[in-house]
Amino acid sequence: MSARPVRRSEQVALRSRTDRRWLPGALAQLDLVLVDHAHCEKKAAANALSLLQAYPEVPGLPALMARLAREESAHLARVLQLLEARGLTLGRDPGDPYAQGLQRLVRTPAPERRLDRLLVAAIIEARSCERLALLADGLEDPALRQFYDELARSEDGHQRLFLRLAERVAPGAAQPRLDALLEAEAQLLRSLPLRPAIH
Ligand SMILES: [Fe+2]
Ligand SMILES: [Fe+2]
Repeated sequence: MSARPVRRSEQVALRSRTDRRWLPGALAQLDLVLVDHAHCEKKAAANALSLLQAYPEVPGLPALMARLAREESAHLARVLQLLEARGLTLGRDPGDPYAQGLQRLVRTPAPERRLDRLLVAAIIEARSCERLALLADGLEDPALRQFYDELARSEDGHQRLFLRLAERVAPGAAQPRLDALLEAEAQLLRSLPLRPAIH
């Protein structure tokens, strides 16, 4: 008797699409979206270093997170340039209720926490990728369209990266937990008001 192959996905299949009303609201208040976007890239860079600090034992993770931190910092620098060109300042981070809601789903025991942190990162990257692609499609300015298209592709690579790491640390457990978290993410998104922000 042969063992059933383990189902492994290569990417995070989000359970819901962004509400159609999000894009017009975001385009109408693009300055607010850009400021929020800068905070998102900053948190993505910081999270990569935090994962490197927390889980150096995972094969490949330190080098991958070091590269990711550099990439997210480069995104941050480019968004900050856009802010400067528009005469905008970054200001303090007011916090992101979406990301905070997902963080609350991270379980406490160490092995579960490690898996959940990687899966939550994968989901945030996947949702960011969806939203950045919507902006790329909806914007009129060709340079901004190209910028958001490039970033959407980059975040798509990141969600795959986090999913691979999650499967590496918990083969067999990653996919069922991802399914549960994706269900929770879709519910969370429905419960939050639409904002002129990435999430
Ligand atoms: Fe990024
Ligand atoms: Fe990313």
